[in-house]
Order: sequence, then C-alpha cells, then structure tokens
Amino acid sequence: MPAGARNDLRSGLKALLAACLSLGLWVSPAQAVEKDLTTKGEVLVRENCSRCHAIGKEGVSPHPEAPPFRTLSSKYPVEDLAESLAEGIVSGHPDMPIFVFSPHDVEAIIEYLQSIQEQPAAPPRE
Ligand code: HEC
Repeated sequence: MPAGARNDLRSGLKALLAACLSLGLWVSPAQAVEKDLTTKGEVLVRENCSRCHAIGKEGVSPHPEAPPFRTLSSKYPVEDLAESLAEGIVSGHPDMPIFVFSPHDVEAIIEYLQSIQEQPAAPPRE
C-alpha cells in the first residue's frame, strides 16, 4: 500500500478515536455512570416536580398536599413509579400535571428517588 494511503488510514483512525473520546464513548467506571444518572434524575425532578414536592433529603413540600419524595418508599417500592412515569403519571390529584418521560429519564428519576429515600425500599407488592 502506498505510503500516502497508510497515512490517511492512520489519521482516519486517530480522528475516530478522538470522536469516541469526545462523545464519551470511552469506557467509564460503572460508578461514574450511576452517579450521572442520579444527577440527571435530580435535575429532572427539580425542573418538573420541585414547585410542589420537597425533592431533597429534608425540607417541606411547597404544595401542602404533595408528599415529600423522600417518603414515597413508605407507601410502595419506588420502582413501581417507573410505569406511571413512562405512561403519564396521573394520581388522584387534579393539581398535578400529567408527565410523560422517556425510558432513560424514568430510569434517572427512579435512581434519584431511591438515593433520597428515608427508609429502605418497602417489600414489593404481592
Ligand atoms: C402542581 C403541583 C405538582 C407538581 C408539579 C407535581 N406534583 Fe406530584 N403531587 C402533587 C400533589 C398535590 C400530590 C398529592 C395529592 C394526592 O395525594 O392525591 C402529589 C402526589 C404525588 C405522588 C404520590 C401519589 C400517590 O398516589 O401516593 C407522586 C409519586 C408524585 N406526586 C410524583 C410527582 C413527580 C414525579 C412529579 C414531577 C415529575 C410531580 N409529582 C410533580 C402535586 C404536584
């Protein structure tokens, strides 16, 4: 193969590598991924839910009837919310708008909610 072509190939590979790195496709430790997901979930609930719900480990909900998110697991396993979040969360409260989240956003929200629960997850419903 002529020298020129080989150089092209090499610079092509370098460009590809650089593209992978900049896209964050490089192998990252599982923990970093987990943390990113939790942070994304936190941002999502802060943007969408925090005007009514307390979303942190302490504090009261701005809306008196909205349960603080850290107490949700006392009623049901937090994962049970995944379906409602993906299909449009409607609970029996007219004040709360209907939300529909993408599967990845749902995963992030659940991950975040789990990270702030006051008590260990309730056992799954039979
Ligand atoms: C405009 C105010 C408002 C916003 C915004 C809001 N909620 Fe609510 N939410 C409420 C109220 C009020 C209740 C409690 C009413 C009730 O018990 O019927 C509630 C209850 C809930 C419950 C408990 C339902 C149950 O059956 O125990 C969950 C879970 C919930 N909200 C999740 C969310 C999530 C997730 C978001 C953001 C994506 C959100 N809410 C945004 C007002 C809001």
